[in-house]
Amino acid sequence: MEIGLTEVSFAYQIGGRPLPVLAGINLHVGPGDFLAIAGAGGSGKSTLAMLMAGLLEPASGQVTLDGQPVRGRGKGKNAAAWQKVGMVFQQPEQQLFAETVAEDVAFGPRNLGLDGERLAARVQKALAAVGLDAEEYGGRSPFTLSGGQQRRVAIAGVLALEPEVLVLDEPTAGLDPAGREQVLELISAFYRRPGKAVVLVSHNMAEVAVLARRVLILHQGRVALEGSPREIFRRGEDLRSYGLIPPPLTRLMQALRRRGAPLPPDVLTLAEARDAIMAWIGGPAGGY
Ligand SMILES: Nc1ncnc2c1ncn2[C@@H]1O[C@H](COP(=O)(O)OP(=O)(O)OP(=O)(O)O)[C@@H](O)[C@H]1O
Ligand SMILES: [Mg+2]
Repeated sequence: MEIGLTEVSFAYQIGGRPLPVLAGINLHVGPGDFLAIAGAGGSGKSTLAMLMAGLLEPASGQVTLDGQPVRGRGKGKNAAAWQKVGMVFQQPEQQLFAETVAEDVAFGPRNLGLDGERLAARVQKALAAVGLDAEEYGGRSPFTLSGGQQRRVAIAGVLALEPEVLVLDEPTAGLDPAGREQVLELISAFYRRPGKAVVLVSHNMAEVAVLARRVLILHQGRVALEGSPREIFRRGEDLRSYGLIPPPLTRLMQALRRRGAPLPPDVLTLAEARDAIMAWIGGPAGGY
């Protein structure tokens, strides 16, 4: 499934007046893509995510699915096409409602017409994908779980719809480090499956650096920068002017470079930093 946006603009209506939020957005996401959307608070990230998931419709411009122009998700004949796009909202655990974890995860696929063993299997598979054992957790009330576990149940509810494109709005915000790791790992596991695509809205540049293949920086509702994480994080000064700072590792390497160290300007991972520093100080590469 490929999502395309062409010259998309969007405005919220406030007291009958339009508040422009996005303008001139062009982008494509298809199988194998991992697109991160970053930008300062209020730059339009969540709005863009909702347009990409068919939850809002553009004021002008066009949204396509596999090249076919579509209206929003709620509009009759488009519903089937949008089923392939799953959206995980900011703080999705606030939308948990059922008496048991299994019932919550079953809600979406049941609405798609699944029942009986097929439904049970779908629920079990989705819970396994987020690292929760259906036997152990299926019968529990979602409200007795930890914050991180609740977040994973909410994500399981979207995975149970078996989307091809997963759009996630700040999925690790507010989680402790272990919860954050678990959510990032399940996103990576989803992405590793053939034909899948991920759109990740994130403030966390370290997360973006490690996961994303392509990064789009929004600034006041427009695309300010677009490129690979390496291309984007090399431009530390530009990022700062858009209200973002590069990941700590990139900043450290850039600070050392300013003091004359012969290090690359676009290190992304701990392993790359280690090898570059070892090459510089003349030690053996590999290991710590
Ligand atoms: N439902 C709404 N009604 C009116 N204005 C809205 C609504 N939702 C968002 N806005 C406005 O649209 C602009 C973009 O909001 P959006 O939520 O897309 O930004 P964001 O980049 O996701 O911000 P954050 O990082 O804080 O989540 C902001 O100025 C916001 O005030
Ligand atoms: Mg937001």
